[in-house]
Amino acid sequence: MSTFGTLFRVTTYGESHCASVGAIVDGCPPGLPLEPQDVQTQLSRRRPGQSNLTTPRDEKDLVQLQSGIEHGITLGTPIGLLVRNEDQRPHDYSETDLYPRPSHADWTYLEKYGVKASSGGGRSSARETIGRVAAGAIAERYLKLVHGIEIVAFVSSVGKVHLPSSVGSQASSEDDDSVEDILSSEFVQLLQTVTREQVDSHPTRCPHTETAERMTKRIIRAKEASDSIGGTVTCVIRGVPAGLGEPVFDKFEAKLAHAMLSIPATKAFEIGSGFRGTEAPGSRHNDAFFVKPDGSMGTKTNWSGGVQGGITNAEDIYFRVGFKSPATISQAQETAQYDGTPGTLAARGRHDPCVVPRAVPIVEAMASLVVMDQLLIQNARKATASLLPAITTLPPTMVKPASGQVNGKQ
Ligand SMILES: Cc1cc2nc3c(=O)[nH]c(=O)nc-3n(C[C@H](O)[C@H](O)[C@H](O)COP(=O)(O)O)c2cc1C
Repeated sequence: MSTFGTLFRVTTYGESHCASVGAIVDGCPPGLPLEPQDVQTQLSRRRPGQSNLTTPRDEKDLVQLQSGIEHGITLGTPIGLLVRNEDQRPHDYSETDLYPRPSHADWTYLEKYGVKASSGGGRSSARETIGRVAAGAIAERYLKLVHGIEIVAFVSSVGKVHLPSSVGSQASSEDDDSVEDILSSEFVQLLQTVTREQVDSHPTRCPHTETAERMTKRIIRAKEASDSIGGTVTCVIRGVPAGLGEPVFDKFEAKLAHAMLSIPATKAFEIGSGFRGTEAPGSRHNDAFFVKPDGSMGTKTNWSGGVQGGITNAEDIYFRVGFKSPATISQAQETAQYDGTPGTLAARGRHDPCVVPRAVPIVEAMASLVVMDQLLIQNARKATASLLPAITTLPPTMVKPASGQVNGKQ
């Protein structure tokens, strides 16, 4: 369906070549200061035509705030966000009237609904993600203002060009448990410090200049061969309080995975140590507890990626999303028409040779929607429970130590 979230509910609408795309955000707290620029900044990072690494479709993607805001303050009522589609060229798609694009959504949409949009990817187009990015920017405004939460995503690979993250190979033989660190200390430090300014300093959105240059070459090579290439986006969320996530089916990482795998072209999701962590024994993988200088409980390492038991533990949350090579390529492909007639498709139109540079703000938006929704749910639980009489009858081992006290320390 087109709605995401329980208490912070976002419904996106629109197809690639209809009049407009956008979203309705329901459940935004009243009193949040919000200007169009807060939303526009992220939309402009997502828009096409930003560099020679993205589709040349020229859309300014200027947002219009339709409702739910007056004098720069949210009213607590549904917020309508609208972006006009301007640079439509339906004729670019005439050959795809005959051919479903291999690995795109044309054939499955038609099978499912029995009808489809007359041109372009319709609802499966990345134009749909405009509504997500606009809504995510509103959530992010609240998260930053109230909790100081920072969400930064960056491109961590394009094809086989990877931002260096792990130290060498893992165990050299099946019986060798003497693994190197799961992620290099440089990569861990990058997760702790990386900013959007650093990410945006290169058109690939990889914050490591030397790797970014190699990624650019890889994308240009795909483009010049009338082909495409995939990649990964890593995201870190800093400053999330402990306690978010709703076990057992709505665990925090399950919500994140759901959010990320709903983005078009995604094929993989991993959190914390992810697949690499499976090669490290528990003695190397466990995140030991300790008391931080401010007296709060923390973990010495963070291979859990900030989530344990489906609940956030106040450490940084980090995860990686895999994006496939875009399906629409102008290179000739042997395939079949809708009626089964074999033939050759060389798709025209303006397409991204690699989606990851533009996927960065989309990943950030979906992350902020998850955090915001889970925060509202936990706040509702805490506010409701706080009205009950204080618990004095249970053994001390059954209740949380008094606020600010860890192991008897204040
Ligand atoms: C930012 C972004 C831009 C995209 N641009 C294109 C594109 O130019 N051409 C294309 O074929 N797919 C593009 N896609 C991917 C398609 O929307 C997606 O592959 C298609 O809807 C099929 O869905 P699936 O890959 O999730 O199965 C893009 C995805 C994103 C996130």
